[in-house]
Amino acid sequence: MDKRLIIGSDHGGFELKEAIKSHLIKGSQYEVLDAGVYDRNPSDYPPIAHRVVGGILKGEFQRGILICGTGIGMSITANRHRGIRAALCHDHYTARYSRLHNDANVLVLGGRVLGVGLALEIVDVFLNTEFEGGRHKRRLCLIEEYEESKRERS
Ligand code: RB5
Repeated sequence: MDKRLIIGSDHGGFELKEAIKSHLIKGSQYEVLDAGVYDRNPSDYPPIAHRVVGGILKGEFQRGILICGTGIGMSITANRHRGIRAALCHDHYTARYSRLHNDANVLVLGGRVLGVGLALEIVDVFLNTEFEGGRHKRRLCLIEEYEESKRERS
């Protein structure tokens, strides 16, 4: 996969975002664009989610990472965008299958839920697992078809 990534968090995910950036840059395998926030001051998560997702939808990045306190607000916001498959993952299994079966293009983490060690392993699994395609592709197409029919009806 492309070695460029976009990452963002609110204050609830700030520390984990910094740890993930160091981890990815240390291995010098990834170029990481940090879409904010840049300090621990209280902040709103939706603008950051929109910014990260925008980078993916414009085709500048294949995958992104979003972090808030629970991961829930970022997931809800990111998944409002057509073409975004944001997966809130808490362990290796969900990270692995979010890629194998769902072709997730955004990994979402809860900065107040996960320890740093586990979170970094989840990131590695997410980045190193490819989509299986086949019947899973058909299921993703069914989601797309629903979105398309909704647009036509409105
Ligand atoms: C911020 O306190 C917290 O609500 C936010 O980080 C996130 O968990 C929302 O879903």
